[in-house]
Amino acid sequence: MKYKEMSAEQRKTEFDKVSAELEAWKAKGLKLNMARGKPGRAQLELVSDLLTVLSDPAECVDEGVEARNYGELSGVPSAKALFAEILGCRSEQVFIGGNSSLQLMYDTIAKAYTNGLLHSERPWCREEHIKWLCPAPGYDRHFKVTQNFGFEMITIPMTETGPNMDLVEQLIADPTVKGMWNVPKYSNPDGIIYSAETIERIAKMKPAAPDFLLMWDNAYCVHEFEGDYMPFPDILSECAKYGNADMVFEFASTSKITFPGAGVAVFACSEANMAHMEKLIGIQAISFDKINQLRHVKYLKDKATTLALMKKHAAILAPKFKMVTGMLEREIAPLGLATWHEPKGGYFVSVNTLPGLAKRTLALCKEAGVVMTGAGATFPYGVDPKDCNIRVAPSLPPVEELEQAMEVFCCCLKLAALEQLK
Ligand SMILES: Cc1ncc(COP(=O)(O)O)c(C=O)c1O
Repeated sequence: MKYKEMSAEQRKTEFDKVSAELEAWKAKGLKLNMARGKPGRAQLELVSDLLTVLSDPAECVDEGVEARNYGELSGVPSAKALFAEILGCRSEQVFIGGNSSLQLMYDTIAKAYTNGLLHSERPWCREEHIKWLCPAPGYDRHFKVTQNFGFEMITIPMTETGPNMDLVEQLIADPTVKGMWNVPKYSNPDGIIYSAETIERIAKMKPAAPDFLLMWDNAYCVHEFEGDYMPFPDILSECAKYGNADMVFEFASTSKITFPGAGVAVFACSEANMAHMEKLIGIQAISFDKINQLRHVKYLKDKATTLALMKKHAAILAPKFKMVTGMLEREIAPLGLATWHEPKGGYFVSVNTLPGLAKRTLALCKEAGVVMTGAGATFPYGVDPKDCNIRVAPSLPPVEELEQAMEVFCCCLKLAALEQLK
């Protein structure tokens, strides 16, 4: 029975029961973490061959490029070819950076700030005011980047098919709106896949700002954990089709394919943008870690081999996601306390509680030793207007620990709801 439909007396009984349950959890002294989308140990072990795949110095030359020395700022040819195949673009459009796509994203915006983009009238630091479109719930670290540069972040509600495009199209008529975040496939945290219509509307946008920057973070481009790989449009050619070739920068990395923090990150953009960026990046770096690039090429080989590896990750991840959604279905759905998506890829389950329950639920979880992403983190400035969105990251704990963590979570959500109804 839904809590709202219970009599005061029934709710009191339930409150006493759930409070006792929480006290019992607290007494166990748990230390569980569902805060960040980190691969679990079994996933790291799955890719251990990466550590030894490149041991022969003779293999450190790639199409004439000596990987052990300076040079080839944009990456070794075989790595560019691999990522071009994965993303569906051309090798010349790919820049292989260091170990983090987040850093490449930050750096792209930093370059717009200090130097300006290809079509900027002036560096963004000389602009009086900059606004930025933030589909939300979204990735907390994106929002921190644009907050760091002092941009005014505007929340765009997410729908089942991507950001609310009516609102986006209205807002881009303002020339101070300079860009937009996107996680188009298995969005963080909702696991939403932008529809073909949404992608087309984005690709054909006509922003008033000549240097509008479409940040296309394809972090989960091959990360299905249920079903087969789902082909996805190449945003570079989509944008080019509508005369917007220079509007978009796409990002990806192997953080959740091989080792997070020790993988390879890339951006892809038009050749004109590439020339502009190479000039600027060449001031700060002579070259990136080409040996790691080669290691990844030797290990991942091509898109088909990469997708086969992703199937093995999926076999580890799928039971964890099933555990989370199954528990929510059993424990929370009948009480009418929250809704959630059933993602088929990515790294998160996004839970939307009744208004005003997220912060309290997570505070109670913390008391019981279960750490989750902070309430509000999925919104610009860390403020969730309805205090309802909670990002669950099931990948790190082993299934048995995850089960405990989810039991604690459900218990805390129930208690928060009962407190509110008192
Ligand atoms: C949407 C999204 N983009 C980027 C990243 C970070 O990627 P990287 O390790 O390449 O910096 C994450 C990590 O959780 C993410 O969820």
